[in-house]
Amino acid sequence: MGASSPELQKLFDRDGGKPTYVRNMFGRIARVYDLMNGVMTGGLDRRWRKFTAQQLALKGAARVLDIGTGTADLALTVVKENGAETHVTGIDFTEEMLQVGRIKLQKMGLQNNVELLIGDGENLQFADESFNGVCSAFVMRNLTHLDRGIREQFRVLQPGARMVCLEITHPPSPILAGLFHLYFDRLIPVVGKLVGKSFESYNYLHQSLAVFPNAPKLKQMMESAGFVNVRYYYRTFGVVAVHVGEKPQTKTE
Ligand SMILES: C[S@@+](CC[C@H](N)C(=O)[O-])C[C@H]1O[C@@H](n2cnc3c(N)ncnc32)[C@H](O)[C@@H]1O
Repeated sequence: MGASSPELQKLFDRDGGKPTYVRNMFGRIARVYDLMNGVMTGGLDRRWRKFTAQQLALKGAARVLDIGTGTADLALTVVKENGAETHVTGIDFTEEMLQVGRIKLQKMGLQNNVELLIGDGENLQFADESFNGVCSAFVMRNLTHLDRGIREQFRVLQPGARMVCLEITHPPSPILAGLFHLYFDRLIPVVGKLVGKSFESYNYLHQSLAVFPNAPKLKQMMESAGFVNVRYYYRTFGVVAVHVGEKPQTKTE
C-alpha cells in the first residue's frame, strides 16, 4: 500500500480514493502542465528526461513503454534519443493529458513512433516480456501501490532490459533538502495558483513527496521486485533521482 499523510488521505477520501484524486487533478491542469513544468524547473525537466531516455541504453529497433506518459514528453525524448526505429507506447489514466500529447505528436509528425493509450500503471494491459525498455517520469509518487507498479514493470520487460524511473526525491544534503522543501512547500503552490490557477494541485506535489521513499529505499523496492544492478543517479543537487534496474537474463541470475 502507498503511504499517505492524514492531510492527503482527507483529499483522497473526498474524491473517492487516490487514483480518482490523481486523475481529477491531472485532468484539471492538463492544459497548463507543460508550461508549469518549464516554469518550476527552469527548463531542467528536459535535461532530466534526456538523461532518463539515455539510461534505457536501447539499440536500434526497440519497443518501449512509458508509464504515466501524460503529454508524451518522455516518450518523444526516447524517440529523439534512440532514433526513428523506436516505437514507444505511452499509457496514462488521464484522457485530458493524452489529448494534449496527441496534438503534440501530430504537430511533430511522430504518430507512427508514439502511440498513446489509456492504461493503468498498476495493472498493465500488456503480455509478459513485451518491451525492450520501460520508463517513467514524475509518476511513481502518484501510484497507490508503488510495489505493484514496480512489479508490473518487471513483468512486461524482456530479460536483460531496463526499467528507468525519473522522480522528484529527497536531496541527500540536509541543507539543500531544507531549501528544496521550502521551495516546494511555499513557492510552488503560489506559482501553481498564478500560472496554473490551481493551488491545491501544486500543493499536492510537495505533500506527495513527503511520503515518497527516498532514493536508497526506492532502490531496495526495485531489488525486491527482482531487478538487478539497480543504481540511481541524483541530478541537480539531488532534487530528482533517476533509478535504473535490469531484469535478469535468466530467472536464476
Ligand atoms: C506528473 S505527470 C508526468 C507526465 C509525464 N511523464 C512527464 O514526464 O511530464 C504524472 C502522470 O501520471 C499519470 N498517472 C498517475 N498514476 C497513474 C496510474 N496509476 N496509471 C496511469 N497513469 C497514471 C497521471 O495521469 C499524469 O498524467
